[in-house]
Amino acid sequence: MAHAAQELVRKLGRLSRVTDEPGKLTRTFLSPAMKRANALVAGWMKDAGLKVRVDSVGNLIGCYEAANPKSKTLLLGSHLDTVRDAGKFDGPLGVLLPIVALADLKRRGVKLPFDVEVLGFSEEEGVRFASAYLGSKGYCGKLTAKDLAMIDADGVSVSEAIERWNGLTPGRSSKRVGVNALHLKAAHKRGDLLGYVEVHIEQGPVLEAKKLAVGVVSAIAGQSRFKLTWTGQAGHAGMTPMALRRDALAGAAEFVSGVEAIARRTPGLVATVGALTVSPGAANVIPGEVVHTLDVRHADDRRRRQALMAIGRLATQIANRRELERRWQRTQENGAVTCSPALTAQLARSMKAIQGKSVSLVSGAGHDGVVMSALCPVAMLFVRCRGGLSHHPDEYASPKDLGVALAVMTDFLERLAAEQGLTPLPAAAGPVFVPGSRRGRNRGK
Ligand code: GLV
Ligand code: MN
Ligand code: MN
Repeated sequence: MAHAAQELVRKLGRLSRVTDEPGKLTRTFLSPAMKRANALVAGWMKDAGLKVRVDSVGNLIGCYEAANPKSKTLLLGSHLDTVRDAGKFDGPLGVLLPIVALADLKRRGVKLPFDVEVLGFSEEEGVRFASAYLGSKGYCGKLTAKDLAMIDADGVSVSEAIERWNGLTPGRSSKRVGVNALHLKAAHKRGDLLGYVEVHIEQGPVLEAKKLAVGVVSAIAGQSRFKLTWTGQAGHAGMTPMALRRDALAGAAEFVSGVEAIARRTPGLVATVGALTVSPGAANVIPGEVVHTLDVRHADDRRRRQALMAIGRLATQIANRRELERRWQRTQENGAVTCSPALTAQLARSMKAIQGKSVSLVSGAGHDGVVMSALCPVAMLFVRCRGGLSHHPDEYASPKDLGVALAVMTDFLERLAAEQGLTPLPAAAGPVFVPGSRRGRNRGK
């Protein structure tokens, strides 16, 4: 696996240079860099023997076809968009690792008894529209009219962004692009799928503490995201006495501290205000309006809902006392997702075979698997990351750990092939996977 891991490292490095912001890695939904990233990864998919297409919401899809055209499909993937000033692993790892693993199968002349579709989702992070999972929602046929009407910081709606991406004239044709003009059907019927498996860096410190390269995920925490607007009265910073002010930023600041206090006293709850815009935004003007995000997560949906009620009461108290108006817009709501026991057990067997031990974690981070779980069973493999650091340019997973993850994925594919009752094809139909052929392979190296 050492050669394949090096190839994976090379590809991760090459893709990390495809960015919308010079000097840092930022790729957002349907941006120019996303188009270049899709072209680059599509080339690697083709080299690995995959048939490539891009769907109407910019998802890159490569299929490693089975010997039998009537076969079921296994989905492997993650997202190709990033946060602002990102590391190179969050997302791309789960797209590039399967490509490298499949390239190795192709090199060895192995055909699987099921199609493998590698998915590079166009949006997972929720950077451009403050709402995540637009790529996987599109793939699953779950984009709603409300999703399509969301606007970005430049006033461009999701449907207009899709229209521009697909090469239609912006503006003129906007009426044509609505719910009906997009292919909003799911890419597959549930019964045709074996499941969706995502490899992702852990983004936390547990595997490092346990001295393990990889772990499986048992569940993904539920998540609510909001856009809040606080409106007060802008005015002269020198001439307006403190008692007569309606300062939107002072109110928002009190709210941010209060949210932090609620999260600190609620075990398992995490709450974040990660982006905030102050208007009019001058040193000598009292802030008249503040718009900010709020992200609240818990593995237990009931606890998350209780915390949201407490946060709502806090906002009302602050608004009343400070005579501010406040508006809430819910931009995302996902319940906690339990990973498929069967697929996870399969992945855990491969993990145990390769690294000797298996471990299971809950993911506090959101993943495409949340949306994919509406379409098929999902499972995830986490890879140790240095210092548990993620959403940061210093995000790092070692080549050795990537080699372990690759070996687990290959073992998993071969076990699944064996489980699907593969019968060898005649030589004329090409080489096929032979159950048991993984025995004797140099694992985890
Ligand atoms: C995705 O990275 C998320 O959990 O916000
Ligand atoms: Mn991610
Ligand atoms: Mn992320």
